[in-house]
Amino acid sequence: MIILDSIAAMQQQARDWRRAGEQIVFVPTMGNLHAGHIALVEAARSQAEHCVVSIFVNPGQFGPEEDFATYPRSFDADCGKLKAAGVDCVFAPSTEAMYPEGKDACTSIMVPGISDVLEGEHRPGFFTGVATVVNKLFNCVRPDIAIFGEKDFQQCLVIQRMVRDLDLSVKIVTLPTVREADGLALSSRNAYLNAEQRQIAVRLSICLGRLVAAIHQPGEINFAVIHASQELEQQGFEVDYVVIRRQRDLQVPAASDTALVALAAVRLGAIRLIDNVPFILENA
Ligand code: PAJ
Repeated sequence: MIILDSIAAMQQQARDWRRAGEQIVFVPTMGNLHAGHIALVEAARSQAEHCVVSIFVNPGQFGPEEDFATYPRSFDADCGKLKAAGVDCVFAPSTEAMYPEGKDACTSIMVPGISDVLEGEHRPGFFTGVATVVNKLFNCVRPDIAIFGEKDFQQCLVIQRMVRDLDLSVKIVTLPTVREADGLALSSRNAYLNAEQRQIAVRLSICLGRLVAAIHQPGEINFAVIHASQELEQQGFEVDYVVIRRQRDLQVPAASDTALVALAAVRLGAIRLIDNVPFILENA
């Protein structure tokens, strides 16, 4: 497994592979890898000759009050996991390499509409930071296929929209959320949870599961959502949002929409957790 920290070296490697007629599959990450990331990597490996994983904690997607400085970093352990998973190449540029004049001086990509709701409302600038860095990473790695996790459901839609709008020649594949045995969605930020918070955290996925199970027709959505919000607060969370939206654009569903998703963002003290459960309304 090769480890590259230079953009030029990554681009050269990608050029060599492409010249040889070989395809590249790419999994962008911010490191501190868990089984959710590794599931993406394992699915990636069979999709192309070469699998590249990036590890870059992107300052462009953290707000001034957020956890960029303390975001868990575990580069050596990450590389061990990626090697064991059969990855060809780790791309781990420095912040200075990615943003030589600072993130705020960098050209940015704003994906309209889909970036403005839910996570976008609660984390202003977040999706511009994500879209910009993913586009930059695509230009370094030049992948044929890129893989993203549905754990970050809205992020998948933002990336798909960016690829469509900018005519990027990369196929986006999304994969379902990997969970702990009790249902908690795996996340690098779970590392922040103490034992007591960990016990509370699992109730987020339980509550979303109950919310989805309570909805059999569009008329039941509003009541079920209010109930879920109250339940989350009773469990000890502060609720940023809990909603049912349609899968394709996260807009409020019309009566005819059947492909829906329950999404929630909650806080346990300073720790923010997101989760979602996509579902189909069979009886609509
Ligand atoms: P990060 O949070 O490290 O996640 C990297 C990828 O792993 C994302 O596609 C994310 O959706 C996926 N992932 C995280 N937890 C998962 C889980 N439990 N099951 C399945 N997939 C999971 O998302 C980012 O980094 C960044 O925003 C990034 C795209 C790298 C841009 O900086």
